[in-house]
Amino acid sequence: MNAMVYHGPGQKAWESVDTPKVLHPTDAIIRVTKTTICGTDLHILKGDVPAVTDGRILGHEGVGIVEAVGDAVSNFKPGDRVLISCITSCGKCEYCKKQMYSHCEDGGWILGHLINGTQAEYVRIPHADNSLYPIPAGSDEEALVMLSDILPTGFEIGVLYGAVKPGDTVAIVGAGPVGMASLLTAQFYSPARLIMVDVDDARLDMAMKFGATEVINSTKTDVAAHIKATTKDGVDVAIEAVGIPQTFDVCQNIIRPGGHLANVGVHGTSVDLQIQKLWIQNVTITTGLVNTNTTPMLLKNVTSGRLQPEGLITHRFTFNDFPKAYEVFGNAAKEKAMKVIISND
Ligand SMILES: NC(=O)c1ccc[n+]([C@@H]2O[C@H](COP(=O)([O-])OP(=O)(O)OC[C@H]3O[C@@H](n4cnc5c(N)ncnc54)[C@H](O)[C@@H]3O)[C@@H](O)[C@H]2O)c1
Ligand SMILES: [Zn+2]
Ligand SMILES: [Zn+2]
Repeated sequence: MNAMVYHGPGQKAWESVDTPKVLHPTDAIIRVTKTTICGTDLHILKGDVPAVTDGRILGHEGVGIVEAVGDAVSNFKPGDRVLISCITSCGKCEYCKKQMYSHCEDGGWILGHLINGTQAEYVRIPHADNSLYPIPAGSDEEALVMLSDILPTGFEIGVLYGAVKPGDTVAIVGAGPVGMASLLTAQFYSPARLIMVDVDDARLDMAMKFGATEVINSTKTDVAAHIKATTKDGVDVAIEAVGIPQTFDVCQNIIRPGGHLANVGVHGTSVDLQIQKLWIQNVTITTGLVNTNTTPMLLKNVTSGRLQPEGLITHRFTFNDFPKAYEVFGNAAKEKAMKVIISND
């Protein structure tokens, strides 16, 4: 089969590799029909995730059709259409029993990281019963690809950990796919104001279409000064969806007393935590790796049309054009790309 294979920092190739087989009774083999590329794949290609070694097939998102299952898989059979979660979970360990699937003792984020991933014609999914979700007949499968990672990430680590409530003023710093997922799912709770912050006007325009009440381009406007001028004493919730010290800093400077700072961004360096100012403000700071325990709930809202993430898809490719898809996604600002779909159906 063909797959997108990592060969060390800056090196990748769409090339022929062995087709995966069932290795454990709890495995399933999925024929991937649609997948996508995540900002995290770009981090891997830069060499920021050294646990990914030469020869690893990339990708942790996608939908497909069950090709084969091990003897212990009872929820799925060949021919079933399934959504692949970016998080693998055994369902039995201490963390899984707390629904902290991201820390599953025999799983977590392993796809396209510690084991071969979904940017391939076939993928092996361990603990299939707990790590796959059945796709209801007639669903928009492109929309469902947004459920493998970005929607649960934006919702769980941004909106739920940030404790967004009706009437809140919420600032989301970073209007990439993850910030957009927080923007879409924050609306479950009817916040009064949803302020999106980014450096890219095209992404901010898109945010307005997805329900932002206002946008700030932080290269043109001082975010903290603007928030100070337009709120009583800051925002109730600040969601950090970039992963750099400057944006964490913006978030810690705009929180009102009793507010929440939900950090979603993956940081590669330390940040300057202003604990001497924050402690007396009763501010809550949260962090986290997505658990995907809310995926079944999000799936219901996408299949009903209540949540419409398909608008995030800006470009479509076939598997033969995989290298081109990386080129476009890797130049997102220039190409006006948000999420790309790569199909093989
Ligand atoms: N916690 C988790 O489980 C989890 C899961 C997936 C992704 N992530 C992380 O979430 C973050 C966002 O992911 P994404 O895919 O949306 O990334 P992305 O790179 O597509 O989006 C980041 C956005 O931040 C904007 N930005 C850059 N510098 C900025 C600045 N100084 N001020 C304001 N905006 C700025 C960019 O223009 C871009 O739109 C990344 O750090 C990613 O690794 C975390
Ligand atoms: Zn991802
Ligand atoms: Zn587990």
